[in-house]
Amino acid sequence: MILLTGATGFIGSRVLQALSLKNLQIRCLVRKPRISSDDPNITYIKGDVLDRDSLVAATKGVDTVYYFIHMMGNQPKGEQKRFDILDRAAIENMVEACKINDVKRIIHLTGMRNPNEKLSHHLQSRKEVEDIIKNSGIDHTIFRASVIIGRGGAAFDILDTVVKKFPIIPVFDWEDTHVQPIFIDDVIKYLVECLGKKETVNRCFDIGCSQVLTYKELIQLYAKELGLKRIFIRIPGSWHRISSMVLGKLSPVDPNVVYWLIESLQNNMVCEPNNLNKIFGFEPVPFKESLRRSIIRNNALNE
Ligand SMILES: NC(=O)c1ccc[n+]([C@@H]2O[C@H](COP(=O)([O-])OP(=O)(O)OC[C@H]3O[C@@H](n4cnc5c(N)ncnc54)[C@H](OP(=O)(O)O)[C@@H]3O)[C@@H](O)[C@H]2O)c1
Repeated sequence: MILLTGATGFIGSRVLQALSLKNLQIRCLVRKPRISSDDPNITYIKGDVLDRDSLVAATKGVDTVYYFIHMMGNQPKGEQKRFDILDRAAIENMVEACKINDVKRIIHLTGMRNPNEKLSHHLQSRKEVEDIIKNSGIDHTIFRASVIIGRGGAAFDILDTVVKKFPIIPVFDWEDTHVQPIFIDDVIKYLVECLGKKETVNRCFDIGCSQVLTYKELIQLYAKELGLKRIFIRIPGSWHRISSMVLGKLSPVDPNVVYWLIESLQNNMVCEPNNLNKIFGFEPVPFKESLRRSIIRNNALNE
């Protein structure tokens, strides 16, 4: 039995679809209960990662937990600014519940980072969650991604808003930060296929396409793929507060998430070398191809 957390989210909902094709028993932890699923292998259990007892109930009879939670947005009023405290409490609850019920493995996706840089609040908190999993004594597999290309992903939806809504794009001091984006389908493939791959147990992998790009190049290439002419103006400083206020209003992303992600634009996200190709037998699609596929998918959804 698998326990899937974050099943309503960008990553979790897609992992759920992919797992269900494998004919596995999946229990989804959700805050708002679902009535049922057409798939007899999928069940829903009401729970909250901040409620330890609900996790103890949810992990009964479970072998593997997929942990796809972050608490930057959509939390009870007054709690929002303390996302790092909430994220720490949540993963500590989960580790405790896993130990009580002898869960064999935790699979987690987190944010990529450069270990030599001062990390943003968001990435520092992601690192803390990752460290708690790694030090739990429970077998684990952790993937770290930078910008994930696919509609519904917070970083991609912010990029999409910037490119589509601003004919003149202001570029701030994150202009030359380097990232190695990855297509959503490739992320899901890693997350689902690692289940059957013993070589991935107790390992952490940075995942990305083969191209390393600056944020400015990312915006330029996306505009080009969309056929949009855009002018860039360089403005000194970070303008973090103002840009997150504007994008919090214009993009579909929770304004709190926008705020913390924009702060993270200062951190480079480039993969450490690894042997993922050998283990998984595929290469993530090139950046331009991931843009093309997302655009085709979006157009189909909007038709
Ligand atoms: N999206 C990206 O571009 C990206 C990039 C790199 C890494 N990641 C990592 O991928 C993981 C998943 O992110 P995502 O993009 O899928 O996030 P998301 O779309 O915002 O989903 C977050 C999920 O967490 C659930 N959740 C929040 N608080 C909860 C609580 N107290 N109890 C139970 N469930 C709770 C939400 O459920 P509700 O529906 O109840 O709110 C939702 O299903 C995170 O670890 C993130 O760091 C994402």
